Amino acid sequence: MAVGKFFSVVQHSSCLRNRYCFCATIMTSTSLLVPPVSVRGMTCLDRDAFTTVVNVPTLKLCDTAISKNMHILKKYLLKVCSFKPIQRTDDRAIVYLNPNIVAKLEDITENDRKLLAGQYECFGTTSVTIGYDNWRRDEVLRAILPGDIPAPTAYSLIGHIVQLNLRDVHLPFKAIIGQVFLDKTASARTVVNKVNTIDTTFRYFAMEILAGERNTVTTAKEHGCTYQFDFAQVYWNPRLSTEHTHMTTFMTPGDVLYDVFAGVGPFAVPAARKKVQVLANDLNPESYKWLQKNAAINKLKDNFKAFNMDGREFLRNIVKEDILSRRARSLPGIEHIVMNLPASAVEFLDVLPDWFTQEELEKVYHKPPMFHIYCFVKANKGDDVCRLGRSLVEEKLGYALSVDSIVDIQNIRDVSPKKEMVRVSFLLKESTIKGEEPATKRLKVDSNKI
Ligand SMILES: C[S@@+](CC[C@H](N)C(=O)[O-])C[C@H]1O[C@@H](n2cnc3c(N)ncnc32)[C@H](O)[C@@H]1O
Repeated sequence: MAVGKFFSVVQHSSCLRNRYCFCATIMTSTSLLVPPVSVRGMTCLDRDAFTTVVNVPTLKLCDTAISKNMHILKKYLLKVCSFKPIQRTDDRAIVYLNPNIVAKLEDITENDRKLLAGQYECFGTTSVTIGYDNWRRDEVLRAILPGDIPAPTAYSLIGHIVQLNLRDVHLPFKAIIGQVFLDKTASARTVVNKVNTIDTTFRYFAMEILAGERNTVTTAKEHGCTYQFDFAQVYWNPRLSTEHTHMTTFMTPGDVLYDVFAGVGPFAVPAARKKVQVLANDLNPESYKWLQKNAAINKLKDNFKAFNMDGREFLRNIVKEDILSRRARSLPGIEHIVMNLPASAVEFLDVLPDWFTQEELEKVYHKPPMFHIYCFVKANKGDDVCRLGRSLVEEKLGYALSVDSIVDIQNIRDVSPKKEMVRVSFLLKESTIKGEEPATKRLKVDSNKI
């Protein structure tokens, strides 16, 4: 019955030869929906060269039959960017089908054909012009790059800037890759490529503008706060946004944040908005400039102060004085000392032994401040990265952290295949400075606690 119906449809379709022709294409494993092969190896973008004409199978239906049969039709639809696979004209609708799935009516499953029987007027094919705007970014790049070079897919979006980290094989094509990312990434106005390793002092990396505006001053949003900065001169990493939120959530109004390596403020600004007292520092004058600007943009007032000095000086003077002044006034709240400079933050723990006098320490221990130290650890698959992070901190202290001084140890992110970023949060107890056990004699980590 269904077959009979199919033939009648085919005969009907032939009446519409002017607009439709039969599709006798045999299905092949090669996609029919690819840009022309002539674009392979292109290094200067010629958008017109991506235009191709594809024979697309169609069904003509009464407009009212569309919604009723959508659950059947949707798996066969031609899905390309900026193209409507269902186009309505008066009381009729043309449904464009994916030629990789349907070459002839029998490619629609027998069951689906039965369900559709009597509901469409004809099955045919029509020519559809597919151009540069219709191809996805990966389709364009795969068509351009030689077969042995994978299309770059990973990128970060920082405000209006697309940041790529291209491999050497991509470099001969970097200009065209940049242009395609610019064209195909919503809200992108500039595309940059990281050119070498991160600047050792201020943690930002040299970058090359590949396409778009030569403007690296951008505005990014993170969890309701707005940040403005020059991405070419300061550190900003969207991959840390979860950790920034986590730490902000962890602090409560009345707490204090001493942000030793504050950057442009992604810990400091949301904490201050939450009525945490914030003293934020960064040695990079550019970071300091934008940190102050971001405090203004986010309407921070008296509970936010910015500093521009070395982290050790900040700890030895500003943090120390503030903690002692708070003890003198018996102020409530937890003091959080956040140290996000993972390549070397542990080195700054060398301030601890002579940070406070014995007399001052008695007051400090009374309500121990909490350190949050970020570090990079080299790790192989299966290694306990939290234990490695803890060991790194203990080696620097010269003593093992007592179990009751450890608040939390978290694996923050994979940096590269053998490098992880870990946060070790611990209280500055008497044992942390004086040391109860040598670092070599490791304590058992309570895995429930971390
Ligand atoms: C990894 S970034 C972290 C920025 C920010 N806290 C974040 O989470 O995005 C480290 C910051 O430390 C700053 N820095 C580097 N060495 C420093 C030092 N000796 N003293 C103070 N700040 C320093 C850099 O300029 C950079 O902004």
